[in-house]
Amino acid sequence: MEKEKQLAIFEQNIGVNTVPYIAVGGGKGGVGKTMVTYLLAKRLSKLGKVLVLDADMGLPDFYILSGVKPKRYLEEYFEGRATLDDIVTQIDHNLYLMSPKSGDDYLVSLDNKQAMELLTKLEEYIVNNYNYFLIDLGAGIHKINQLIFATVHYPVLVVTPDIMSIIDAYAFVKTVFQNFRKTYFYAIVNQTRTDLDYKKTINVLRKSVKSFHKNIEIEGLGHIPFNPRLSQGDIPDEINKYVDEILKNMLKNRYKQVEEKKGFWSKIASFFRR
Ligand SMILES: Nc1ncnc2c1ncn2[C@@H]1O[C@H](COP(=O)(O)OP(=O)(O)OP(=O)(O)O)[C@@H](O)[C@H]1O
Ligand SMILES: [Mg+2]
Repeated sequence: MEKEKQLAIFEQNIGVNTVPYIAVGGGKGGVGKTMVTYLLAKRLSKLGKVLVLDADMGLPDFYILSGVKPKRYLEEYFEGRATLDDIVTQIDHNLYLMSPKSGDDYLVSLDNKQAMELLTKLEEYIVNNYNYFLIDLGAGIHKINQLIFATVHYPVLVVTPDIMSIIDAYAFVKTVFQNFRKTYFYAIVNQTRTDLDYKKTINVLRKSVKSFHKNIEIEGLGHIPFNPRLSQGDIPDEINKYVDEILKNMLKNRYKQVEEKKGFWSKIASFFRR
């Protein structure tokens, strides 16, 4: 069958999903992508069932924050040795994790047809079992990071007030725009010391992307202050106030770009064909 036809069938079967897909990325390493994913996931799990995909294929470490090590891995599902239920690890009430084990190139080496089938099942599984789907991306502007960012409902950049992190986020946005024509992004500033830190950081990021292309929008969702207790695995109450503000801003303009509701997995599948 022609690839285009295959893709059309794939998209038809998938339909339009109603589960928000949220990807947390941003280019620079160590800015707090995993921490932000964890904070959002914990809070969202009070509202419904949450599945987190650790998409840091090189060095998956979400499980370290959550304190529960997965027993089975994504690769086992793709190799037909495990079902989706088998590879999902419950880490808390309403909170589940799916994690890869091996290096970056594994998923890319999959056979195209098989990848499409498995991804269709994955989509069904998510829609039937969860209310929120979060993806914790690794650092860097790898193609798979760009693709995921370009296709989810909520591409959320994590930056810190540090200029290097803003430059990396800018470079990431620029690349996703150039390769996928994506124009709408969200941003969370992590490790702020003051409210002013948040405003300044968003402004610098917004100005830089605008100077590259006037159509690119960055919507600030809020910030998370620096708090040493976070790195000890604790979530202080005062932090949840900030997380709630972020979620409120995020969910109020749910599906702003309606056309992007379609085609997440089909685009991911098309990646396997290259
Ligand atoms: N708001 C914060 N306050 C204090 N420490 C933080 C905060 N956010 C993150 N950290 C700490 O910073 C370190 C890096 O965070 P994290 O692993 O989440 O970053 P990352 O962007 O996911 O890194 P990588 O690029 O390696 O995936 C961790 O030790 C984490 O505990
Ligand atoms: Mg991380």
